[in-house]
Amino acid sequence: MKRDWIYLDNSATTRPLPEVRDAMQKSLQSGFANPSSLHALGARAEEQLEMSRRSVARLLQVRPDEIYFTSGATEANNTALRGAYRAFAHRGQHIVTTAIEHPSVRAVCTALQTEGADVTFLPADARGRIDPDNFREALREDTVLCSIMAVNNEVGSVQPLEEVSSAIADRPSPRPLLHVDAVQAIGRSEFSWTDLKCDLLSLSAHKFHGPKGAGALYVRRGLQIPPLMAGGGQERGLRSGTENTPAISGMAAAARWLIEGGADACRALRSLRRRLAELILDALPDAQINGPEIDSPAGVSAPHILGMSFAGVAGEVLVHALAERGIYISTGAACSSRAYDHPGTLELLPVREEVAETAVRFSLSPFNTQKEIEYTAGVLEEVVPSLRRVSGRGGI
Ligand SMILES: Cc1ncc(COP(=O)(O)O)c(C=O)c1O
Repeated sequence: MKRDWIYLDNSATTRPLPEVRDAMQKSLQSGFANPSSLHALGARAEEQLEMSRRSVARLLQVRPDEIYFTSGATEANNTALRGAYRAFAHRGQHIVTTAIEHPSVRAVCTALQTEGADVTFLPADARGRIDPDNFREALREDTVLCSIMAVNNEVGSVQPLEEVSSAIADRPSPRPLLHVDAVQAIGRSEFSWTDLKCDLLSLSAHKFHGPKGAGALYVRRGLQIPPLMAGGGQERGLRSGTENTPAISGMAAAARWLIEGGADACRALRSLRRRLAELILDALPDAQINGPEIDSPAGVSAPHILGMSFAGVAGEVLVHALAERGIYISTGAACSSRAYDHPGTLELLPVREEVAETAVRFSLSPFNTQKEIEYTAGVLEEVVPSLRRVSGRGGI
């Protein structure tokens, strides 16, 4: 399809697939009834809802009754953390997480401190990874919950979840629960969920070519956590409120796409990312990669996120300059937009302030092409030196 823009902001959101739009339309037409209604139309909506649950479960290779639909990952993270803490605070009040979680985890952990939680925010290194030994050492007798993201949304670092999971497995029973925010990993990382012993996992449809307003929380069978909201008791009591069936159907279609080949398509992302980095570094050798090195293996770097800093050019200025040329990216650090008051990942890493100020994030989808990558690098080669002349600033 011919377009006059290039979308490289796929960590912010992705474009819904045609099959997602079709599934949503079908749900709006033939499955519009309330799935809790007892009549035939309600039964049809419920049937579609349960089919969607099976698709999402198949994507994660878990049982359908372990999937609870939510409005997205923010709600899934809140439900998981607040619920798990409140259910098990009588056992201990210590939580282990990282300093660079998405705000929907980080801010919840901070809020739980007011309920008595003692939270360890593990620092990440300059490339955005926590040290698994630090994690192991942080675990205490009173640790009840750990929340570790699979892939950082700003710099694309992959956290050492296998080591995290085995450190927890080595603890005496009752072991701490493990929650994983897998939003940026679903469909993109080569990570195998089946090997990971996690208790709770969050995902969001709009990050893997589904619609906004749908997400899911995996809750390991047998684990019971209280809901955030009181109400009609939908989703087996964990998430009251009439299910957003069109968006859930769209999410299920995106899950099926991943299962049936989309995940293979995502394997091309790593070489696309490498090509983009190489072209940029050839043209602008003093550009800096933020997050994992470009050659780092799958267990260290995500294939779709490339964080970079261009000395002397504020991230926000570069985002606007590229947008004027039809290339859509975002800043690496939300701090530079000041749109909300949570620090960005780079502000929380041991890197110089200017690295964070000049950071941008390119995030790819399997629908990006080599041509788009080459064009983007060409535009950067032209735009960055001229912005540097205007700012009168050079190297970092
Ligand atoms: C790592 C991570 N967790 C959680 C979220 C929140 O997801 P949602 O938009 O579905 O609330 C995002 C969104 O950017 C994210 O990147």
